[in-house]
Amino acid sequence: MIIAPSLLAANFGRLEKEVARVNTARADWLHLDIMDGHFVPNISFGPEVVRTLRSESRLFFDVHLMCSKPAILLEPFAQAGANQMNIHVELGDATVTSLLWKIKSLGVKVSLAINPPTPISLARPFLPLVDSLLIMTVNPGFGGQSFIYEMLPKIQQAAAWRQERGLNYHIGVDGGVDFETAPECACAGADAFISGTTLFHRHNLTAAVRKMRKAVEGAATPPKPIRHKAS
Ligand code: DX5
Ligand code: ZN
Repeated sequence: MIIAPSLLAANFGRLEKEVARVNTARADWLHLDIMDGHFVPNISFGPEVVRTLRSESRLFFDVHLMCSKPAILLEPFAQAGANQMNIHVELGDATVTSLLWKIKSLGVKVSLAINPPTPISLARPFLPLVDSLLIMTVNPGFGGQSFIYEMLPKIQQAAAWRQERGLNYHIGVDGGVDFETAPECACAGADAFISGTTLFHRHNLTAAVRKMRKAVEGAATPPKPIRHKAS
């Protein structure tokens, strides 16, 4: 199980100290939200901030590009130290295909993100190519929003496809992930839990990460064995 605090909920006035909290919290990934004020109605930070934080942390950096033109940002974020980059399926099939291969060519893991209104079927053709699928459980742009429960069937579908097709991508959830919604996602098949407000706003981040890990590990159902049809 991957627990990934989302830096968007950190205190931006003391980012290095906030990253130091994550370094010692036994989290698995640090999720970094990049917003361009166009794909989403908010602006966050760019590659220079990621590069600066890279020298402060050995964590796996999971960069979430909520941007209309991610093609121009892939190299800068790869050079800044991203370990994985998430791009959005809403950019369209041709763009997504070229971005996925470009990310792979940079030696960075690739994740496909999908917004709440977008049918999960649009992600299906890309699943053999990705390391992770990121199911947005809020409309992206802001932290602290309420989890959209209608996304649970998408998680179940993504888990079913993973099982049926013998793939091993992570299924991540992002938005409104707290100590109650995370276990529900785990039960549906998610294994990567992006959480901003719930983790960062706790005084003791280490305890919060431990609590979330315990909650999702207790809720997860072991994968069913693949049934091969008799020929
Ligand atoms: C939302 C971002 C999330 C955000 C989650 O647009 O992609 O990563 O930080 O924040 P919480 O956990 O507060 O909903
Ligand atoms: Zn995110």
